[in-house]
Amino acid sequence: MSKTTDYINNNRQRYVDELFELLRMPTVSADSSKKQELVKCADHLAGHFADIGLDSKVVKTAGHPIVYAEWLGRPGAPTVLYYGHYDVQPADPLELWKTPPFEPTVKNGSVFARGSSDDKGQFYTHVKAVEAFFKTGDGPPVNVKFLIEGEEEAAADNLDKFIAANTEKLTCDYIIVSDTAQFDEGCPSICYGLRGIVYMEIIITGPNRDLHSGEFGGAVDNPANVLGRIISRLHDENGRVKIYGFYDDVVELSTTEREEFARLPFDPEKYRAALDLPQLYGEKGYTDLERVWARPTCDVNGVYGGYMGEGAKTVIPGKVGAKISMRLVPDQDPDKIEALFKAYINKITPPTVRTEIITHGKARPVVVPTDSPALTKARDALQKAFGAPAVLMRGGGSIPVVETFKQELGVPALLLGFGLPDDALHSPNEKMSLAQFQKGILTSAYLMGLLAE
Ligand code: BES
Ligand code: MN
Ligand code: MN
Repeated sequence: MSKTTDYINNNRQRYVDELFELLRMPTVSADSSKKQELVKCADHLAGHFADIGLDSKVVKTAGHPIVYAEWLGRPGAPTVLYYGHYDVQPADPLELWKTPPFEPTVKNGSVFARGSSDDKGQFYTHVKAVEAFFKTGDGPPVNVKFLIEGEEEAAADNLDKFIAANTEKLTCDYIIVSDTAQFDEGCPSICYGLRGIVYMEIIITGPNRDLHSGEFGGAVDNPANVLGRIISRLHDENGRVKIYGFYDDVVELSTTEREEFARLPFDPEKYRAALDLPQLYGEKGYTDLERVWARPTCDVNGVYGGYMGEGAKTVIPGKVGAKISMRLVPDQDPDKIEALFKAYINKITPPTVRTEIITHGKARPVVVPTDSPALTKARDALQKAFGAPAVLMRGGGSIPVVETFKQELGVPALLLGFGLPDDALHSPNEKMSLAQFQKGILTSAYLMGLLAE
């Protein structure tokens, strides 16, 4: 093992340089004009896996390609499946980036680039650990499979189809996903729960064109006003979601879990200050960590319509819309919540406009066992690489494939995140700490050793 970890330490700069090659590729899955960039990135990754010593291929889908690679040279040893995503969120608003999003730039020990933490810099730790084992011996101590997708941020279901059609090929003993953040710097973490999501859009149509607000204002309902009224009826004064039946299947936190959350070194004041907020806000009766990890939410993600240009233009917009997503917790069912949302919106929409409701994506919430052998070994590996004991935490985000893995392959994922809470995922100036990247590679190598035992 020391040969391998020495190699990782001695090749630190080259590993970073290779990560930068990935970060220079603008693999924005939501942007159809970037389709070729995703193909290029998938080809690049497949080529890289082959160079390291794995069998690799690019799998075409109805959307962006999947990269699959494997090395099964350890008969009798366990097989580990690593999941990651090479697609990234759109970089906009571009003017808020201090350095260009697709020109990785190092500042204060972190690399700034879109996708650095979410998820290129995270899944790459496992690729580099496997490489180190090949360079210092005859390969990793376990069999490895890599499944790197290009549509995680786009909420598509092509990967689900691929998994369902290839359960035999993907058979494994462990699944490791590095696509979450650890609790804090110096506080290595294992994540055991993620929220689910239902992502909706409401389109409200009023008059057949934008109208002069003086000539017509007063005699027609304004779709933008209607949207405001609808949004104002999503929550009550205690921050609870008013959709009928929304909380019916929510599992309340146990006293033990609440105590465990409360023991974590969370500082609401530091959290507030880092966001430049006058005050934090959330559902009454719960702590901040409980709200983010174990309570469902409903949030407006965007509103559009009306005059957004310079100066004043007096119009009543003919058509407006809003994108609204709900984060779900066990045992809320995305299909049921989708239906409840539609029913509520239809009920509170006045008869003065027409409303269309579209679903953009759904994912189930997940909680994985905290007493599995994989988790115990991950704790040991983190202790070795980070020199500190790991904490258990949950995450507020969603990784749709985790539930698919459980259903199709029968294996719960180990959520081993190397990101930091201030990595600014999905925001301008996303970053990945290079120390976290390095320790992540070491953790991955130690963990392969432990899983092989
Ligand atoms: N890596 C995130 C999920 C995440 C972030 C989990 C932080 C836990 C903590 C992932 O790439 C992501 O952004 N997922 C989307 C899913 C959606 C598009 C279906 C999300 O959570 O918004
Ligand atoms: Mn991610
Ligand atoms: Mn993401």
